[in-house]
Amino acid sequence: MGQTDGLQQSGVSILKADIHLAPSILSADFAHLGTQVEEALIAGADYVHVDVMDGHFVPNITIGPLAVRAIRPIAQQYGATVDVHLMITQPERYLADFARAGADVITVHVETCPHLHRTVQAIRELGARPGVTLNPATPLVALEEILPYVDLVLVMSVNPGFGGQSYIPTSTAKIRRLRAMLDAIGSTAELEVDGGIKPDNAAGIAAAGATVLVAGSAVFGGPRSIAENIRAFERALNP
Ligand code: DX5
Ligand code: ZN
Repeated sequence: MGQTDGLQQSGVSILKADIHLAPSILSADFAHLGTQVEEALIAGADYVHVDVMDGHFVPNITIGPLAVRAIRPIAQQYGATVDVHLMITQPERYLADFARAGADVITVHVETCPHLHRTVQAIRELGARPGVTLNPATPLVALEEILPYVDLVLVMSVNPGFGGQSYIPTSTAKIRRLRAMLDAIGSTAELEVDGGIKPDNAAGIAAAGATVLVAGSAVFGGPRSIAENIRAFERALNP
């Protein structure tokens, strides 16, 4: 990961060529959001994960297109992917707003999209890369027909709504099954995993077939600096 010019110039060692770290800004200090995102990107992250919640699909309310617009130039400076995870009902109403704000990837929940194929097409037509995701109890079969059309599939390894929850252990088998499904159709879509990822379980999740690891509290929380937290992922993924 982290193979952009900016990161190479900064002399930071990369985590692992095929694994991307996606810090979730949900756990960042919003009074210093730009500085914290930049610190994560300098340290080797190459995605910025934006958790959008509406108080309907999930109990929590967070942020919207304005936050995406604010972090977009920082992400661009480091060649990072702006990765927007929509945990909202009727996401199709807001796709254009997020695309205009600078989202590179827009991921929708299968549970919120009765016309998922149409929604995925709409994301692509807006110039963003479409992603789909599903809650821990939603079976992978719900995604089977849409896999050929997406650039990213996200496995939720916690129930969406809050940062800082524990990884649901059965997610690893689900990741393995999804990896097999993607490989069977020759898909090059990223397989992202979100929720409860720490340095001590990151390698196992990557070994199961994940290519993008979301981490919120493990990057922005705790007593250590953001850079030190990312170095802990780097060590875990490059033993
Ligand atoms: C949960 C969000 C996650 C969350 C991850 O609804 O989608 O992205 O912020 O946070 P941690 O890494 O703390 O579980
Ligand atoms: Zn998320």
